[in-house]
Amino acid sequence: MKGIILAGGLGSRMLPLTKITNKHLLPIFDRPMIYYPIKTLINAGIDDILVVTGGRNAGDFLRLLGNGKEFGLKHINYTYQEGEGGIAEALGLAEYFAAGEPVCVILGDNIIEKNIVGAVEAYRKQKSGAKILLKEVPDPERFGVPILEGDRVVRIEEKPKRPKSPYAVTGIYMYDGRVFETIKTLKPSSRGELEITDVNNAYIEMGELTWDILDGWWTDAGTFDSLLRASNLVAKSGANNMD
Ligand code: DAU
Repeated sequence: MKGIILAGGLGSRMLPLTKITNKHLLPIFDRPMIYYPIKTLINAGIDDILVVTGGRNAGDFLRLLGNGKEFGLKHINYTYQEGEGGIAEALGLAEYFAAGEPVCVILGDNIIEKNIVGAVEAYRKQKSGAKILLKEVPDPERFGVPILEGDRVVRIEEKPKRPKSPYAVTGIYMYDGRVFETIKTLKPSSRGELEITDVNNAYIEMGELTWDILDGWWTDAGTFDSLLRASNLVAKSGANNMD
C-alpha cells in the first residue's frame, strides 16, 4: 500500500501564522506538524510516500524533509497543489503516484497518539473498497460526521449543524485504485471544494466502505485552538507516535 500525505491548501484559516510559512511546518510541541503524519504511515509499515504540498512555501518541505533520512527513508515523493480546491482535489493529484495500487491517505494536520497498524492490516485483508477511522469527539459539528444504523455507516455529513452521532470521521482514509475515477465525478461543494466526504459517500453507496474506531487520542491542528491542543497532548502524553 502506498501512503499519501495531504499538506496542500493555503492555510488561510490560520493567518498570520501562515503568512510566511506553510501550516504543516508549524510546530506541534517539539516537531514540525508534518513529522507526525509521516511517522503514522511509517509506523504502519508504509514507506512509499507522496507529500502533496501547496502555497508559497512548498520548497521548505524539501529543505526540511529531503529524502526522509531522519525517518529511515531513502526517498520521498512530492507534488504541488495550486490553490485550495479541496482535500479530494489534492488526492486527485496522486493518481500517477498510486498507479492503480491501494492507498492510505492522511491529512497533514491530523495527529494521533497511537498507531493505525490494526486498521491497515484489516484493510489489506479487505482487498477493495474503502476504510475510514472514526473517533468520538465533543464537537462533531467541526468534522465529517457518520450517520450510523446499527453498525453500518449509511451516510456521512460534512460539518452538520446538528450531528447525528458523536463521532468525527478522522483524516485517515484507505482507498482502492478506483478512488481517482470517483474524484473525477465530483462537483465543488458550497465552500467551493472537492470534498473527501463525497468520495466516502460514493463508497457507501457502492456498499464498500468499512470503518474502525481509532485507538488513543486524535486531533486535527488546523485551527488556533486545535493547534494548541495538539501541542499540549503531545507534550503531556510523552509517548506520542514519534518515540
Ligand atoms: O480532520 C478531519 C476532517 O478534515 C474531516 O472530519 C472532514 O470530513 C474533512 O473535510 C476535513 O475537514 P477540514 O475542513 O478541517 O479540512 P481542512 O480544510 O482544514 O483541511 C485539512 C487538511 O487537508 C489540510 O491540513 C491540508 C489538506 N488539504 C486541504 C485542502 C482544503 C489539502 O491538501 N488541500 C486542500 O485544498
